[in-house]
Amino acid sequence: MNLIMKMLAAPATVLALWAVSAQAATNDEIAKRLEPVGQVCVQGEECKGMEVAVAVGGGGGAKTPDDVIAKHCNACHGTGLLGAPKIGDTAAWKDRADHQGGLDGLLAKAITGLNAMPPKGTCTDCSDDELKGAIEKMSGLK
Ligand code: HEC
Repeated sequence: MNLIMKMLAAPATVLALWAVSAQAATNDEIAKRLEPVGQVCVQGEECKGMEVAVAVGGGGGAKTPDDVIAKHCNACHGTGLLGAPKIGDTAAWKDRADHQGGLDGLLAKAITGLNAMPPKGTCTDCSDDELKGAIEKMSGLK
């Protein structure tokens, strides 16, 4: 091998190694993306997100309307803070429901947020059903 060839061969090796490691990183990323959404937690291993679910949901599973309201909605809807319709003030809720096309319209606004009303009323891991349950309970509407 002459000198020129050697000089070309060295970077080529580096390039080949780099390509292999880049490929590995990509495979890792693909594996991450393929992980199931409801990740299985193995005992003794750290399980990301679980502590949040436990803190908010009280051990996972469906949240009751009372849970959701007490932990998330009551802060504003309990007192009517920032102009929020008050819990139990069915007339105020009905007026809003009439404007939004019923309970489902209210639910849609609760999900996206409305002015000072934060998206999902800060219950970011609430399902639509859980939010709807809370709205039904606060408004007294069905
Ligand atoms: C940070 C205060 C705050 C929290 C927390 C909050 N809300 Fe609200 N919410 C508001 C305010 C303020 C409005 C009135 C917004 C407006 O009309 O400008 C409102 C309005 C609403 C409406 C009526 C929307 C409409 O279309 O008129 C619904 C439904 C609602 N909230 C549901 C919830 C639920 C469910 C929760 C708990 C999961 C929650 N909110 C938590 C402040 C809050």
